Amino acid sequence: MASMRAAGIQHRNGPVELLDLPEPRALSADEVLIEVAAAGVGNWDEIVRTGGWDTGSTPPMALGVEAAGTVRAAGDAVTSVAPGDEILTHPLPLRAQGTWAQHLIAPANVSWEAAAALPVPALTAEQVLAEALEVHDGQTLLVHGASGLTGGMIVQIAALRGLRVIATAGPASHSRVRALGAVEVLDYHDSDWPDQVLRLTGRKGVDVAANAARGGAAAALSTVADGGRLATITSDTPPAQRGVTMSEVYVRPDGDQLSVLATMVSQGRLAVNVAESYPLSAASTALARAVKGTSGSAVVVTTS
Ligand SMILES: NC(=O)c1ccc[n+]([C@@H]2O[C@H](COP(=O)([O-])OP(=O)(O)OC[C@H]3O[C@@H](n4cnc5c(N)ncnc54)[C@H](OP(=O)(O)O)[C@@H]3O)[C@@H](O)[C@H]2O)c1
Repeated sequence: MASMRAAGIQHRNGPVELLDLPEPRALSADEVLIEVAAAGVGNWDEIVRTGGWDTGSTPPMALGVEAAGTVRAAGDAVTSVAPGDEILTHPLPLRAQGTWAQHLIAPANVSWEAAAALPVPALTAEQVLAEALEVHDGQTLLVHGASGLTGGMIVQIAALRGLRVIATAGPASHSRVRALGAVEVLDYHDSDWPDQVLRLTGRKGVDVAANAARGGAAAALSTVADGGRLATITSDTPPAQRGVTMSEVYVRPDGDQLSVLATMVSQGRLAVNVAESYPLSAASTALARAVKGTSGSAVVVTTS
C-alpha cells in the first residue's frame, strides 16, 4: 500500500518521529482531503502526545491540531469548498490523521506559516472573550499570562473590541505586550501584582479577567469586581466567590469564527508572529521549542 510521510508517535508518551502512514482512505460525503502546506506546533501537542487530550485518533498517529493547505478532493456533500481552495483548519475530532477538514477559506495573502499557527490560539481567544466573558467595549479586562501565544491573542482581540486591557507578563515581554494593545503591563513576578490591578481600577477590580497562566486563575480572580466574570484556559477554576461567574474554556472547532479571524489576519488587524519553522523530520525539536516557550511567537512544521 502507498504511504504518506507524517510526524507523530507510535505509542502514547513515545518520542516524536517520522512515520510512514497509509495514504488517506476514500472520503466520506462530508469530508475534504487537504494537502497540508504547514501545521502549527503548540504546547498543547505535548498534552496530546502524553495522553491528556483525546483528539479522536490513536497511535500510531500524526500529531498536530491545526493546519493550512490546499483542498485536493471533496466528498459529494461538500459545497463550501472545492478542490484548489486554500484553507486553514482546526479539524477536531480528527477523522484520521489530521489532514481532513470541512470548510474555511484562507485568504490568499496570509503566509502558510501564519495561517497554520492561527486556529488554536485565535479560536481560544475568541471563545474566551465572546462566549465565556461576553465582553463589550468600554470594559476593563485583565489578561494574566499575556506574553504567551494564546494570551497575546486574547490581548489583541480584546483591544480591537474596545476593551481597556491590563496584562501581566515577564519584564522582557512588556513592550511587546503593550504593542499588542495592553494599556498597562504588570510584572507577574511581583507578588503584589493583583493589588496593583486593584489600584489601577480604583479598588473596584476589573469587569472581566482571562487567565492564560498555568495555576493562575485564583490570583486572576482576586482582581475581578464583585459580580464580574473570569475565564481560565488552564483547567484551574477556583472555588466560587463574590458572585463572579467562572468558566473553564476548552477550544472547539468553529468554522465561522475562524473565517472571521483569518480575514482579520489578512487585513493586517491581527498578527501571528512565526518564530520558527521546521521540516517534518525535525518535529520533535519543534515540539520541544513550543513546550519551552517562544515569547508569544508560533512554531510550525512545513511539509516541503
Ligand atoms: N483550554 C484551551 O483550550 C487552551 C488553548 C490554548 C492554550 N491553552 C493553555 O494555555 C496556556 C497558555 O497558552 P499560550 O499559548 O499563551 O502559552 P505560551 O505561548 O507557552 O506562553 C506561556 C507564557 O506564560 C508566561 N508565564 C509563565 N509563568 C507565568 C506566571 N506565573 N504568571 C503569568 N505568566 C506566566 C510566560 O511569560 P514570560 O515569557 O513573559 O515570562 C510565557 O511566555 C498553556 O498552558 C496552554 O496549554 C489552553
